[in-house]
Amino acid sequence: MTDVCVVGAGIAGLTTAYLLSREGVKVVVIDDGPLCGGETGRTTAHLSNEIDDSYQEIESLHGSRGAQLAAESHTAAIALIERIVQKEQIDCDFVRLDGYLFNPVDGDDAYIDKELEAARRAGLNPERLPHAPLRFPTGACLRFPNQGKFHVLKYLSGVIGALQRSGCELFTSTKAVEICDGFPAQVRTERGHTIKAVSVVIATNSPVNNLFVPHTKQMAYRSYVLGARIPAGSLQDALYWDTLDPYHYIRTQRLSGETGSELLIVGGEDHKTGQEDNPDARFHALEEWTRERFQEIEEIEYRWSGQVLEPADYLAFIGRNPGDENIYIATGDSGMGMTHGTIAGMLISDLIRGRENPWTQLYHPTRKTLGALGEWTRENLNVAAQYAKWLSSGDVESSQAIAPGEGAVIRESGKPIACYREPDGQLRRYSAVCTHLGCLVSWNAAEKSWDCPCHGSRFATDGHVLNGPAVAPLKSAEQDTKRAA
Ligand SMILES: Cc1cc2nc3c(=O)[nH]c(=O)nc-3n(C[C@H](O)[C@H](O)[C@H](O)COP(=O)(O)OP(=O)(O)OC[C@H]3O[C@@H](n4cnc5c(N)ncnc54)[C@H](O)[C@@H]3O)c2cc1C
Ligand code: FES
Repeated sequence: MTDVCVVGAGIAGLTTAYLLSREGVKVVVIDDGPLCGGETGRTTAHLSNEIDDSYQEIESLHGSRGAQLAAESHTAAIALIERIVQKEQIDCDFVRLDGYLFNPVDGDDAYIDKELEAARRAGLNPERLPHAPLRFPTGACLRFPNQGKFHVLKYLSGVIGALQRSGCELFTSTKAVEICDGFPAQVRTERGHTIKAVSVVIATNSPVNNLFVPHTKQMAYRSYVLGARIPAGSLQDALYWDTLDPYHYIRTQRLSGETGSELLIVGGEDHKTGQEDNPDARFHALEEWTRERFQEIEEIEYRWSGQVLEPADYLAFIGRNPGDENIYIATGDSGMGMTHGTIAGMLISDLIRGRENPWTQLYHPTRKTLGALGEWTRENLNVAAQYAKWLSSGDVESSQAIAPGEGAVIRESGKPIACYREPDGQLRRYSAVCTHLGCLVSWNAAEKSWDCPCHGSRFATDGHVLNGPAVAPLKSAEQDTKRAA
């Protein structure tokens, strides 16, 4: 038996494992894929204590004490990352730098003024400026000092090295299919092994151990990112976010071995997972926005997208799993998963070690935030509306219309079938019914996956789960038809 089993090797799981291992706790980490193969590998890694949903919102939902604790915890997360970088001597391009929240030229400056006051009440010290230090015109702006940026995969590879040196065992390609509370708590893997542990930490981004909570309290969104080479120094080295909804986020990244140029990274165009999908249009809109403002760009060299989980009240759910004694969860990154994942490491390791932590109630997975009821209802009505897709016709008439490398849902005797045509022409056919709670999946042409619009489960073209909360793969269409007969 081990002391702690951590399921999920992204920033949340690895930070938790690192902090516990440093105290001499025996930790086993398992991951379904490779280490850091989840959303952590898709991040743009801004490290910020300015919450992207704004302190105005956080204060109105969680009160002024809640806003102060949120500011304190995100500040502490950046400081912890900096300490780990120094202690483990990790070469990961970590730097402290300013972050600028700016209005577009025609933006409402009252928003900036309110955010200035709310952030100050939360304990931060932003400065108001007439515009951001960018070459294109902007409206008023707030400068947040002492933010951070880093290369998360280089950082976590240093963390993994430290874990291995401390005796932590890490297993890849090891999927958890059943998690049971008790003493010991148990994790059953797909290959039939059982890991017994005093405590289990579910750090799978979207918890795979619960059917309902917290999935009914958060919504999955897809965000798009471009990377383009620009002459080094074209842009003051800082983090930038605008106040639009969805917002744009901007930073640069040093390119190893190059001094004359660097990478400009711009993200945005978020939309609900599995809904309003048209990735080409999203990338196109993002490229247009970027080229209009950064004329020095030549070729767009990188394009990718990823998923964030947005809680109705904007803060992560971290702590003891509802109804369990020895199982802990971390979810609801809200686009701030670098800091939320690091907060999860600090908070969960304190809970497991029996220490008081001032952030426990703020991040508690069972919290009910009265002011978020409207948002919660809207999101759940949106989920309910997704079930109406059961009544719709397919995306195309028949699988003949599906080009190589593409996918679409078709109807066969009324049954929804998710069809993907391999580049060599072979057709893969699965039931389009999500194995979490039965919504119909949609084709994601950017990532070549089947995405569920209800709670963000994602499936690969061979049906296996890429993102929870689903645990079971999509059923083959033939198996599904036989069962119905
Ligand atoms: C485009 C984009 C930009 C972003 N930019 C920022 C940013 O600038 N700043 C910021 O703070 N945050 C940002 N985020 C958010 C941040 O990247 C994520 O919130 C964070 O990486 C999530 O980390 P995690 O450890 O919770 O999950 P993940 O990294 O997804 O790790 C979960 C792991 O669990 C594993 N797993 C899943 N199911 C199972 C199972 N059944 N058994 C075993 N293992 C399993 C997966 O394989 C995966 O490795 C961004 C996200 C995206 C998509
Ligand atoms: S993710 Fe919940 S029904 Fe698909």
